[in-house]
Amino acid sequence: MDLFVSCSQGLEPLLIAELQTLGITASHGFRGVYIKEWSLEAIYKINYLSRLASRVLYPLARFRCRHQEDLYKEIQKIDWGHTFIQEGSITKSFAIDANVSANPELRHSLYAAQVAKDAICDQLRRKIDQRPRIDVQNPDVQLNLFISQDWGVISFDTSGSPLHKRGYRQESVEAPIQENLAAALLQIAQPQESDVIFDPCCGSGTFLIEAAMRLSQTPAGYFRKEWGFFHLPFHKEQLWLEIKEQADKGIQPLQPGKISGIDNNRQAIHASKVNIRAAGLHRFLNVECTDFRDYTPSVPPTFVIANPPFGLRLEEVPHLVPVYRALGDFMKRKMQKPGRGFILTGSPELAKEIGLAAEKRHVVFHGGIECRFLEFNIYE
Ligand SMILES: C[S@@+](CC[C@H](N)C(=O)[O-])C[C@H]1O[C@@H](n2cnc3c(N)ncnc32)[C@H](O)[C@@H]1O
Repeated sequence: MDLFVSCSQGLEPLLIAELQTLGITASHGFRGVYIKEWSLEAIYKINYLSRLASRVLYPLARFRCRHQEDLYKEIQKIDWGHTFIQEGSITKSFAIDANVSANPELRHSLYAAQVAKDAICDQLRRKIDQRPRIDVQNPDVQLNLFISQDWGVISFDTSGSPLHKRGYRQESVEAPIQENLAAALLQIAQPQESDVIFDPCCGSGTFLIEAAMRLSQTPAGYFRKEWGFFHLPFHKEQLWLEIKEQADKGIQPLQPGKISGIDNNRQAIHASKVNIRAAGLHRFLNVECTDFRDYTPSVPPTFVIANPPFGLRLEEVPHLVPVYRALGDFMKRKMQKPGRGFILTGSPELAKEIGLAAEKRHVVFHGGIECRFLEFNIYE
């Protein structure tokens, strides 16, 4: 059975391209990609190195699932003792993340998860008269159940908590961009080492940190402490440490003063400072609390990237018109020429206010909203 690597909707082609650079061939799925030929090494590499993936799902069984009796019976066919019993007792907790669509009888994901959970606990109780603890917040073993029409797949979630949780985001702001979406946009934009990178609406600093990690080839999981695979029966600590060590050897030094950002919200700047420090990047990334409309960078940027607010409610849009006009002005007047600017927005009306013709528009989903990632070439 294929390994499934999930990602945000629309990022599948970028994830396929990213995995190719890790020597892994994948094919397009819905909100993820399939990998036919995979190994434990591939699981470790994707979990540690992929900037775009959300979860790596290791399939245990695929089965006909017409109703709850099928589900219960098929989940019981798997030997759960292998996963949960160690030296005659059960110490690991677990949780099941279920997703059910278009099944004629099983309509609720939570109910399907409950049936699967009962099947596992009943089997283990019969075996050794013990059952594992359920822990939905921080389980040792995270299982994933996917039912579509009358087929089901149960998998180990080898990632545990989703991979966008890199470990550096200690503080946040309203509507932060998810780390793996920021990384995907940077993969589209391809900042170069020679670029002077600037985010005029940096919020909690995600673009800045992701750009720094990308340019320094710092593995996406470098600041994470935990992965789901640590608790799975196939885990080989030695192999994992070798892969991690090899990847960490590739980290390159960064030049100070080439990546910076500002935000006019004091709390946002506090959050970005905390996060930048957590990523150990405080000597390389500068942020400051100021309005970009009153700001002239000491070194004009060659690369601007931002997701300015786009107003979740319709009545907010008119208030943001001056911000978008000023963003266009900022790129025209304060960037080095030629330069490249990238703006993510969910508002087509506001996008027009930038007043520059976009070279390209990429469709991406941010917080469930269809957005455009606009690319501008800035010339004299
Ligand atoms: C959607 S948030 C950006 C989130 C950010 N990418 C992150 O990862 O946290 C938009 C940010 O733009 C900032 N902003 C809005 N108008 C601004 C202005 N005129 N000057 C500077 N920052 C501004 C807001 O304070 C807010 O933090």
